[in-house]
Amino acid sequence: MESIGQPIDRLDGRLKVTGGARYTAELDLPDLVYGVIVGSTVPSGRIRQVDAAPAERAPGVLKVLTHENAPRLLPIPAELSGIRLLGDGGVGEEYLPLQAAQVYFAGQPVAFVVARTFEQARHAATLVRVEYDAVAPKLVMNAGSMATRPDKFLGRPDEALQATRGGDAAAVRGVFDASPVRVSHTYTTPIEHHSPLEMSATIALWVRMPDRASAQLTLYDTCRNLKGNQTILAQVFGLPTANVRIVSQFIGGAFGAKGFQWNTPILCALAAKATGRTVKLVLTRQQMFLLAGQRAATEQGYAIGAEAGGEIRAVLHTTRTHSSAISGYIEPCGRTTKILYSLPHLEISHELVRLNLPTPCPMRAPGEAPGTWAQETAMDELAEKLGMDPLTFRLRNYADVDPENGKPWSSKHLKECYTRGAELIGWDRRPSQPRRMREGQYLVGYGMATTIYPAGQRGAAARIILSADGSAVVRSATHDQGNGAYTILAQVAADALGLPLARVRFELGDSDFPQAPPAGGSATTVSVSAAIEQASTQAKRQLMELAVAEVSSPLYSAKLKDIGASNGRLFLRSDPGRGEEYTAILRRTQRKHITADGEAKPGPEREAFSFSSFGAVFAKVRVDPELGTVRIAQVAGVYDVGRVINPKTTRSQLHGGIGFGIGMALTEETIYDSRTGRAVIRDLADYHIPSMADTPLITVETLDIADPQIPGPGARGLGEIGIVGTAAAITNAVYHATGIRYRSLPLTPAKMVVPTAAESRNTATT
Ligand code: MOS
Repeated sequence: MESIGQPIDRLDGRLKVTGGARYTAELDLPDLVYGVIVGSTVPSGRIRQVDAAPAERAPGVLKVLTHENAPRLLPIPAELSGIRLLGDGGVGEEYLPLQAAQVYFAGQPVAFVVARTFEQARHAATLVRVEYDAVAPKLVMNAGSMATRPDKFLGRPDEALQATRGGDAAAVRGVFDASPVRVSHTYTTPIEHHSPLEMSATIALWVRMPDRASAQLTLYDTCRNLKGNQTILAQVFGLPTANVRIVSQFIGGAFGAKGFQWNTPILCALAAKATGRTVKLVLTRQQMFLLAGQRAATEQGYAIGAEAGGEIRAVLHTTRTHSSAISGYIEPCGRTTKILYSLPHLEISHELVRLNLPTPCPMRAPGEAPGTWAQETAMDELAEKLGMDPLTFRLRNYADVDPENGKPWSSKHLKECYTRGAELIGWDRRPSQPRRMREGQYLVGYGMATTIYPAGQRGAAARIILSADGSAVVRSATHDQGNGAYTILAQVAADALGLPLARVRFELGDSDFPQAPPAGGSATTVSVSAAIEQASTQAKRQLMELAVAEVSSPLYSAKLKDIGASNGRLFLRSDPGRGEEYTAILRRTQRKHITADGEAKPGPEREAFSFSSFGAVFAKVRVDPELGTVRIAQVAGVYDVGRVINPKTTRSQLHGGIGFGIGMALTEETIYDSRTGRAVIRDLADYHIPSMADTPLITVETLDIADPQIPGPGARGLGEIGIVGTAAAITNAVYHATGIRYRSLPLTPAKMVVPTAAESRNTATT
């Protein structure tokens, strides 16, 4: 039976619920010692002096590392561009730990205490005395702040951050000014944190190799970029890449964190080198708000001009966003403005302000999540001005081809998503005027938004080892962030190899395995499936060649193209009764196993077509006008994500993405003190991610239409599309319920109860 399309339970599910799946922090290696970070108390300046002596004398302490005594590291050359994935610089932190006295943000590691027990290390860390020459920090992004205008979003080298369409900037503005119906507003989104359940963690050990001149560095790490981080670690420690091994078999959520050049694994490896011990470092939840990435804050100007009939003429979308003093990563909010609707005149621009705050990085749908919130809110505002239904307005501007380059979509069925989503939420019950629906004390509203996420493919490789007992192990240095990659990649391999799923084991999470890209950009399924297909073709070819060459085989002298493979057996397509089991072929030829390698990279179809997933999100909310609370009555999302490999894990991914969107709309916000740069919100008591009670009814459907231009099963990625559009669907529903337009996320009760003057002026009932 085909395994693709079946709602297979997670193959690692039993291990996870029984505690058998060991996450990095749980690994109990022999002779472990523990490291604890001492963070800077100032956001900007230089370390004048460190007094480590009291800490060094504390019980159990093995070493206190500072910038004065830590082993030296080699710099990372700019040309390691596979690692410098995104932004105008790299992604992650562009400095190396404990190499200099410079302080860039509050919380930056300024000392690292290693002790026999965690408690001893934590105690000693409180004894390290650091004095600073502080300088005035830059902590807020405002009109006076120095901004740069980076050109390129290097995550996709073709993605210009400053762009116009249909004329220069002045011409586009002229078209906007001349448009009969216009909206133009500023939308702001806060800093957010990925907040995976599992904190970032590393265990590092060095082993001197008897047969090698240098040492081997092994890291157990919460890492979703094995090959990239292997290269970084090798570079900074001056090792051949093969002498660094990173193992990461289970990851408890990442969402964009855990993938880049963060200082903490380097710090842990540094301490293991300095002490000659196996060192474990587990970040605290508070440190996750400082040392593991975040979504940058944005201020977006969004202006749309349309004809009275609803045809969009011009869009101007400006983004001002921040990064840290040690990163040029930029949140690319303008990306979806280019492609979501058909429009002839466009200007997008991005400005970056560097602040003395922790470093931003991609977080689930970087750019698309805050970008579509502004875009789809402005669309809602314009629909109302036009007196059009928001869904009708979107259909009026439907992009039949990619509006950016005129290329056909590889596959696009967004109209079906709109239709089905509207049915699921009961869109026809929605009165066109806001503040017209009540259920008891609650104001009730309906909102919708479009969602989109690119369907990328990156180079990947896989190896198959098919054993004489008829089972197969498939390996690739890819990652399972908790999303189900173990399961769905085994399903792909089983079908590609013609084996029952129970005979296939997929192994990942080890940098010794064949090349795979970082688990990001919703590209793992496409990229690794393509490599598995290639390796499977090789494996089956080897079996066929063995069979046709052997006089005693029923397939003797058959042509390879006439042979099929399924259920562990080769057979003649024209006469399926004639065939031979894989096990019989290997036994007869006295092989314990065969090994096949496959490699795949984006093909010429990537030039001919544009690749995206699509969807439509609808929300119904209940707002308590007295308390300012928003409760979700229902979110319904319908998605066109290509072939669905596993309906169960697919639903979980999209459901989780919608949960992210609910948090983005209503609760999630990180605040740093604007004088000290220290995190004010820094744990899950104050950083509110939606709980079960906040997510009562989430309805997810997929169209399950295979993308004919995607190799293998024709599945597009779906890790990130669930968040895109969700926040706008919810806040548009809040507008529909209340008649008040809030243009600053999240919509907390405080904002809802006391709207600003500008928000009050937008009250539809006044
Ligand atoms: Mo996604 S945050 O681009 O992995």
